[in-house]
Amino acid sequence: MKSQNELGIPIPANKPLVVRNIKRVTKEQREYALEKTEYSMFSFPADLIFVDFLSDSGSGVMTDLQWAALFHGDESYARNKGYYVLLEAIRDTFERGDDPKKAINLILSGETNVKKLMDELYLTSNEGGFVNGGIHQLARPNAFLVPQGRCAEHLLFSTIAPILKQKNPGSTYYIPNNGHFDTTEANIVANDIYPVNLFSSNLLDDFPYDEMDKRNPFKGNMDIIGLKKLIQDKGPEFVPLIYLTITNNTAAGQPVAMSNIKEVHDVAKKYDIPFFLDACRFSENANFIREFEEKYKNYSIPSIVKEMFGYADGFTISFKKDGLANIGGGFFFKDRGIFHRKFSIDEDVGIKLKECQILTFGNDSYGGMSGRDIMALAAGLYEVVQETYLNERKNQVREFARKLAKNGVPVILPAGGHAIYINMEKFFEGTDMKVEDFGGVGFTIELLRHYGIRACELGPFAFEWDKKTTEQRKGVLNLVRFAVPRNVYSASHLDYAVASITELYKNRDMIPKVKISRGAELRLRHFQTGLQPIYRQINKE
Ligand code: F0G
Repeated sequence: MKSQNELGIPIPANKPLVVRNIKRVTKEQREYALEKTEYSMFSFPADLIFVDFLSDSGSGVMTDLQWAALFHGDESYARNKGYYVLLEAIRDTFERGDDPKKAINLILSGETNVKKLMDELYLTSNEGGFVNGGIHQLARPNAFLVPQGRCAEHLLFSTIAPILKQKNPGSTYYIPNNGHFDTTEANIVANDIYPVNLFSSNLLDDFPYDEMDKRNPFKGNMDIIGLKKLIQDKGPEFVPLIYLTITNNTAAGQPVAMSNIKEVHDVAKKYDIPFFLDACRFSENANFIREFEEKYKNYSIPSIVKEMFGYADGFTISFKKDGLANIGGGFFFKDRGIFHRKFSIDEDVGIKLKECQILTFGNDSYGGMSGRDIMALAAGLYEVVQETYLNERKNQVREFARKLAKNGVPVILPAGGHAIYINMEKFFEGTDMKVEDFGGVGFTIELLRHYGIRACELGPFAFEWDKKTTEQRKGVLNLVRFAVPRNVYSASHLDYAVASITELYKNRDMIPKVKISRGAELRLRHFQTGLQPIYRQINKE
């Protein structure tokens, strides 16, 4: 008889303990709601949706251990106990690998030994890593809690832009990335810096769906030749940071290989440029490295994460993804590292950052999060590196892609870590849909209208193709993303989605072109513009 591991079916990884019933909304009711909300995915009431793939950000289910930790939340205005626990959890996660301190257990177990609490948690001091502690965090702040990832980006870019302007007034600066996320790009642009996407050249190559368990081409990698060329063309002093997003959300959620992380680090080091990670999905990325880079097959996830971050000089992160939290973000840089040296000109850059943090989000010990969120996040950082969880998630996303590919839908393969992406150029091949018709948006409107499923265009509409130069347009892919929330959906949700997407693909000539009816000039417009699908007689069914 076969053993539990030989059945060819993964062992279930969890069981839901709370259930939310989905309302039976009709197509006519959704049509009415779409009209009332200007056909914008971001304005449509979530409670009227059957399956929501708009984002994997903050939309996940917390584990029972996180809920238990939440009850220990401390809402004191300064130095709540979760602050200490979270800083330790961040050191454990990003620096300590297989040797975590797990100071959170002192709180969760109700430790009453005051001396122990003082010696092991409240009055310890740290320096030299991503999270200074005690007096060192006061003298050289380098860890900043904020409500979410974009706040960390705002903190970073709004602080460095004036320093750069002061260094070389009137000069143009460039920040390369393997794929800037939309808010990262917008925060860079808002500070008069020029974002550059250096996607891997194999990104849109075909890949057989039945080989997803066997190999992975790490299509999320940064184009190293492009990176060197940019630095040589513009001059290293005009490239203030090199950013690498793991996994690469803008490039179809594809993973980045450890070898690529190291190569980017080597280039950054050679030119003395700070190397930063956009670390939102660090744990999913680590799981790909373990599965597909030979050297790491027997490594634990925490040890891979430690090595990944060992190459970086700093990182911004949205904990709403691989923090398993509903809210939270942060910005961290190495104590006395390259970033600290380069940007501490008249004053320690950490002091400037902290000023901005206090002005905009809150004091350093809560940064705009509630004490309960802080505890749930600290516990989440230990949950998110569990192999059982990671493998279940990876298999779910992969299975979603496999089923679509089998039905002929042009999904980008292999599947990324948190989402599947449909290539809209291929999707509309042979129809009269042009890039400027925003066919991807038309597709998402029809998917919501007919089947109650919400997805997100990340293509010419979101990335403002029509406002870009011919050169900039090369950095815009034409994708629709289905992001899978963590621990929320089962195979039945995905099967319903696969059937719906396939049906629309078969009827793609009925998908309407879309016009922007209000706010075309707004920045980050996919969050706020009004849209109008142009139905022809045949497609208003
Ligand atoms: N960087 C990446 C790679 C992201 O995916 C996101 C958010 C952010 C930064 C910003 O973080 O939302 O906490 O402010 N991505 C979400 C998404 C919104 O749906 O992909 P945030």
